[in-house]
Amino acid sequence: MATKTVLLTGASGFIALHTLDQLLKRNYTVIGTVRSQDKADNITTQFKKDYPNAQLTFAIVEDIGAPGAFNKVFQDHPEIEGVLHTASPVSFGLNEDLKDTYFTPATEGTRNVLEAIQTYGKSVKNVVVTSSLAAVINGNKIGDKTFIHTEETWNPITWEDVNTGLEAYVASKTLAEKLARKFADEKKPSWTLTTINPPFVLGPQKLEFSLTNKTLNTSAEIVNELLYSDPNDTHFFDAPLGTFIDVRDAALVHVLPLENENLSGKRLIPIQDVYNGQKLLNIINKTFPELEGKIAKGSPENADRHAEESNIYYDTSKTLEWTGIKSWITLEESVKDSVRQILDYRSKH
Ligand SMILES: *[C@@H]1O[C@H](CO)[C@@H](O)[C@H](O)[C@H]1NC(C)=O
Ligand SMILES: *[C@@H]1O[C@H](CO)[C@@H](O)[C@H](O)[C@H]1NC(C)=O
Ligand SMILES: *[C@@H]1O[C@H](CO)[C@@H](O)[C@H](O)[C@H]1NC(C)=O
Ligand SMILES: *[C@@H]1O[C@H](CO)[C@@H](O)[C@H](O)[C@H]1NC(C)=O
Ligand SMILES: *[C@@H]1O[C@H](CO)[C@@H](O)[C@H](O)[C@H]1NC(C)=O
Ligand SMILES: *[C@@H]1O[C@H](CO)[C@@H](O)[C@H](O)[C@H]1NC(C)=O
Ligand SMILES: *[C@@H]1O[C@H](CO)[C@@H](O)[C@H](O)[C@H]1NC(C)=O
Repeated sequence: MATKTVLLTGASGFIALHTLDQLLKRNYTVIGTVRSQDKADNITTQFKKDYPNAQLTFAIVEDIGAPGAFNKVFQDHPEIEGVLHTASPVSFGLNEDLKDTYFTPATEGTRNVLEAIQTYGKSVKNVVVTSSLAAVINGNKIGDKTFIHTEETWNPITWEDVNTGLEAYVASKTLAEKLARKFADEKKPSWTLTTINPPFVLGPQKLEFSLTNKTLNTSAEIVNELLYSDPNDTHFFDAPLGTFIDVRDAALVHVLPLENENLSGKRLIPIQDVYNGQKLLNIINKTFPELEGKIAKGSPENADRHAEESNIYYDTSKTLEWTGIKSWITLEESVKDSVRQILDYRSKH
């Protein structure tokens, strides 16, 4: 039986692989885009193990920022009904040109996918764009209890404010989301737009090959690096510091707009908790007694209070109400699952 066809861009990413899992579990027909055939082959091989009847194919899009990058996939697949645009740069490298590394792929990639939908995507009904909590956070209000970040809050940053790789990332995500919303407002398309604005995303990798390198990509490295920390290190781990959601919940909120019309036009901010390195170390110590003395203990006191006071204050009740989600996977469960996976992988290899 024919099922709804969904295009998933950037399908090899950390959140995207979990999103792919949820789509296949729900019997969607999925077309992924990745940069190389090698990646497409690996992902297909892995998912066929769990879903032998998976309706999964790939299109290669080497450069999402190139004009017309997504035209061919929509021309070849007029049956696409849902689009999950997760492809975007995420690394915080400093040595490359900031516009080329962040701004162009984020904004042109978004423009290209929306224009291709508008021209060729005649069956498209729902478009979901992965934005970031970076597009929500007002950097002047960190630690300010009187300023509550919600689904309505916008980062005031402009490209003129950018001096560092991190600022370039933050501005690119903000401007790409604004572009998508302006496009949808002006063109009055026949599809709905939902953006997902996740904070730092932690949790296990969907596929083991993602653990091959000693250093993992961006946020997955946050937990991994603590497992290589110096056992004699007793400073307070005030870094890294951020707001948290588990990757499986970040993936779930990408899929729900395909099925719940209440989410059209919405901006979803899935946040479960705030963390710092010390809070993560405390969780690891509590959950994995066998690691005591093998990794840093840091300075266990006051980790929760520090994390709360150094982050943003937020209220995500609208996101919960609109999605119908009752509770998120907790920081503790997430860290436990990530550490377990890394330890198992290391003992096997
Ligand atoms: C997906 O398809 C399988 C096999 O046809 C069926 O058993 C399962 O219930 C379906 N799952 C959903 C969520 O529809
Ligand atoms: C594909 O998988 C093989 C074997 O698991 C691995 O050696 C190779 O690096 C992977 N390629 C990519 C692009 O991930
Ligand atoms: C491992 O690191 C290399 C070099 O940074 C990178 O090219 C490769 O994609 C990484 N492999 C995985 C599976 O993340
Ligand atoms: C990690 O980043 C490298 C370089 O951007 C990318 O090629 C690789 O696919 C990423 N690995 C995972 C597991 O996302
Ligand atoms: C930790 O300190 C002990 C005692 O000073 C020392 O013997 C050991 O080599 C140190 N370990 C590391 C990893 O630095
Ligand atoms: C959409 O919202 C209405 C009104 O709040 C509610 O009755 C309905 O159950 C919601 N639909 C879904 C799919 O959650
Ligand atoms: C680690 O946890 C144990 C109990 O599980 C506790 O006795 C110990 O004080 C903890 N150590 C650190 C450094 O938090």
